Amino acid sequence: MQIKDKVIIVTGGGQGLGRAMAEYLAGKGARLALIDLNQQRLDEAVAACKAAGGDARAYLCNVADEAQVIAMVARVTEDFGALHGLVNNAGILRDGLLLKVRDGEISTMSLAQWQAVIDVNLTGVFLCTREVAARMVEAKSEGVIVNISSISRAGNMGQTNYSAAKAGVASATVVWAKELARYGIRVAGIAPGFIETEMVASMKPEALEKMTAGIPLRRMGKPEEIAHSLAYIIENDYYTGRILELDGGLRL
Ligand SMILES: NC(=O)c1ccc[n+]([C@@H]2O[C@H](COP(=O)([O-])OP(=O)(O)OC[C@H]3O[C@@H](n4cnc5c(N)ncnc54)[C@H](O)[C@@H]3O)[C@@H](O)[C@H]2O)c1
Repeated sequence: MQIKDKVIIVTGGGQGLGRAMAEYLAGKGARLALIDLNQQRLDEAVAACKAAGGDARAYLCNVADEAQVIAMVARVTEDFGALHGLVNNAGILRDGLLLKVRDGEISTMSLAQWQAVIDVNLTGVFLCTREVAARMVEAKSEGVIVNISSISRAGNMGQTNYSAAKAGVASATVVWAKELARYGIRVAGIAPGFIETEMVASMKPEALEKMTAGIPLRRMGKPEEIAHSLAYIIENDYYTGRILELDGGLRL
């Protein structure tokens, strides 16, 4: 599918990878609907997309809230017409061990800590995909859905909640690719390793060095490199049902 003039929703488009991917697609002439929780960040991202050469609009929406997602997808459809793409990128971290023992006392991961990550990173992906896919089928428009999983889907220490959500996203990607192919909709994923976002840029050099030491390419990925893979998936009509791993060769 050509990217130019296509209507693509990017969740978590206000900052980080979401914003970088949106700007990259805007540079190729896409029409973007950016979804996030913070109006100011969204406005800045919209301006950046317009400067990069695409059209863009902002929508406040919590992807974990069913009513908000239904209303958001309806509004985007009204504003832009048929939808062609969805990038399920919004995500959060609430890291912690399943249990810790200190001075003989056991403390555990709370249900709230588990649930918050499952709600945004897994249920949010389900809700957005369901609503967008239904609109694509209704409009008989070709479509591509790309889910941002993570290298942590293999099981990363301190990330019971996040690893479970990202593994769920990876397997749902395969299910949806099989179920939606008959309607001309492709579904694929990207599993990034460590990517240099704002959060990482503020880390101490020693911590950064430790983090990159285990990566065969000895550096973190750049947001534009993830965006490049996203564009590849959108443009390659034979790519579906697979997770593209972009991690500099790192294995957890
Ligand atoms: N940065 C990395 O190294 C890395 C590695 C692997 C996977 N990922 C994944 O990539 C995605 C983006 O990560 P990032 O590093 O850019 O994170 P980030 O925190 O910089 O950006 C995430 C964005 O999602 C938004 N968001 C959070 N909860 C939301 C909700 N309920 N509804 C709508 N928007 C919401 C946030 O406001 C934020 O703008 C995430 O899914 C993350 O798990 C990132």
